[in-house]
Amino acid sequence: MKYIGNKTRLLEFIDKSMQESGVPLGGVFMDIFGGTGSVGKYFKNKGYQIISNDIMLYSYIAQYVNVYMNMIPKFSKISASGIEGVLEILNDPSLKKTGYVYDNFAPGGTYKRQYFSDSNAMRIDAVRDQIEDWYLNGKLSVDEYYTLVYMLIDAADFVANISGTYGAYLKIWRSMALKPLCLKIPEVIDNKCNNYIYQQDANCLIEQVKGDVLYLDPPYNQRQYAPNFHVLETLAVWDKQKLTGKTGQRDYSDKKSDYCQKIKATEALKDLVSKAKFKYIILSYNNEGIIPREDILNILSSVGKVEEYVEDYRRFRTERNNANRHYKECDDKVQEHLYIVKVF
Ligand SMILES: C[S@@+](CC[C@H](N)C(=O)[O-])C[C@H]1O[C@@H](n2cnc3c(N)ncnc32)[C@H](O)[C@@H]1O
Repeated sequence: MKYIGNKTRLLEFIDKSMQESGVPLGGVFMDIFGGTGSVGKYFKNKGYQIISNDIMLYSYIAQYVNVYMNMIPKFSKISASGIEGVLEILNDPSLKKTGYVYDNFAPGGTYKRQYFSDSNAMRIDAVRDQIEDWYLNGKLSVDEYYTLVYMLIDAADFVANISGTYGAYLKIWRSMALKPLCLKIPEVIDNKCNNYIYQQDANCLIEQVKGDVLYLDPPYNQRQYAPNFHVLETLAVWDKQKLTGKTGQRDYSDKKSDYCQKIKATEALKDLVSKAKFKYIILSYNNEGIIPREDILNILSSVGKVEEYVEDYRRFRTERNNANRHYKECDDKVQEHLYIVKVF
């Protein structure tokens, strides 16, 4: 999934740094800003029991499949051949209709927005309604429902006509956006543990959890996730609410993150770290983030012994493409800082 701050390409760096720092394998690993679930999924494979969380519903659904579930469900009320049979139904190109997505996010619809081709928008409408209909009629378990919604969101994201986020759609069609929507079976890791997932504000949830490793990957700049990934949230919630503005936004007043606000971010991190009941705290933060490095070191060293690891990587796609944006670093490279704290 194209996602600001997705750690997929930094997983080995995180893992290697943890090993160098002597963080023991096993026990409870919590990813409290889960996003795509990529970190929880990776560490599930390393023998940890995982707890994962995020404020967004599309993220909760991604974590449901990548972290919570240990196997693909059977779909026995829909097809004798399981998920393969369900895919045959949902990937049938004749399953299409003009509906909410077509009306709100396709050029043929009322608002002429260009997030999806007309034909993909019609496919998304028919597939999403079919999933909802099966669920409301008792033909899908919760595991099956979230698996299918996740597969649809992932497939829709693949053909979205955007450059990185849903903050805007492209005026010219990118080639991927003209490919047909295709749902794929997700990889599900079995760690033989009960894993737990939440959709809560991290600073509230921290009071209810404890464990061995707490991984923190908060937003690092002022771009709120809710407006930047609103189309994914709309597909997840499927309440068909009236969308507004040029880009068809949902109301996100209850989804604003303190970590995206310069005057609140440092205090929010301080509060989170002070309430944590974990043996190790690991923080990923970008060198262009809004919390100054000195503040981070002060906050972390008040609870334990801090080690810092640094890795260069390429800037997130929309940020690279935006000629009007000015960066502290003039080139395409940014630095990921990983702070590992052995708590006193
Ligand atoms: C940098 S991203 C995490 C990316 C993730 N590690 C990955 O690999 O996909 C930050 C995430 O924090 C979530 N978030 C922001 N503020 C939050 C809060 N107060 N509580 C919980 N989640 C929050 C956002 O929705 C976003 O998904």
